[in-house]
Amino acid sequence: GVAWGIVLVAAYLLGSTPTGYWAGKVLKGIDIREHGSRSTGATNVLRTLGKGPALFVFLMDVAKGVAAIALARWLFSQPGLETQLPWAVTAAALIAILGHSKSIWLGFKGGKSAATGLGVLFAVALPVGLTAAATFLSVLAIFRIVSLGSIATAIAAPLLMLAFRQPLPYLLFALVGGTYVLITHRANIQRLLAGEEPRIGQKHAEPQ
Ligand code: G3P
Repeated sequence: GVAWGIVLVAAYLLGSTPTGYWAGKVLKGIDIREHGSRSTGATNVLRTLGKGPALFVFLMDVAKGVAAIALARWLFSQPGLETQLPWAVTAAALIAILGHSKSIWLGFKGGKSAATGLGVLFAVALPVGLTAAATFLSVLAIFRIVSLGSIATAIAAPLLMLAFRQPLPYLLFALVGGTYVLITHRANIQRLLAGEEPRIGQKHAEPQ
C-alpha cells in the first residue's frame, strides 16, 4: 500500500526532474526544447550547450534512475515486503524512465530516457548495466551517432538480462523499457534510415 505509493510517486518525480531543461535555462537562458533535436537529454545538451553541461546532465539523469531503484530496494527490504521487491524495482524502473520523457514539469515532454534507462539498469542488475554501457560506448565509438548507441543498447538490454540469468520481472522490465526507448527514438530511427542523423559534432538539421 503505502510503500508502493511512495515508490511509484518518487520514481516518477525523480524521472521527471528536468535537468537538461534547467541546464539550458541557467547556463544560456534558452529553452532547450526549441533547439537541435528538441530533446532535454544529454545529447541535445551536448550539441546545444557543450561538453561540460552534457556530462553533468548525463550523470544527473543516470543518478535519477539509480535513486529511484535505491529507494524501491530500501523500502521493500522491510520484513513482509521482500517478496514484492523485484516487482517494486521493476515498477520503479519503468516509471522513472517514463517520467524522464513525460515530465510533469515540461508538459509531459522531456528526453528519450536513454541515460535514465542506463542508470536504472545499473541499479537493477549491475553486470547488465556495465555490459549495456559497454554496448553503448562500442556503438558510439564505431559510428559516432549517439541515438544509434541508445537504440542498440535498448535492443541489447533484454538479451543481457537473459545472458546474466536475471529474474523474470527484470527481463520483463528490459523488454518493456527497451521497447519504450525505441519508441522515444522514432524520429531518430527515421533520420537514421534517411541517412540524416547527425554524428557527434555535426550540426542538427532543425526540425520544422
Ligand atoms: O539519449 C538520446 C539520444 O539517444 C538521442 O538524442 O538529441 O540526438 O535525439 P538526440
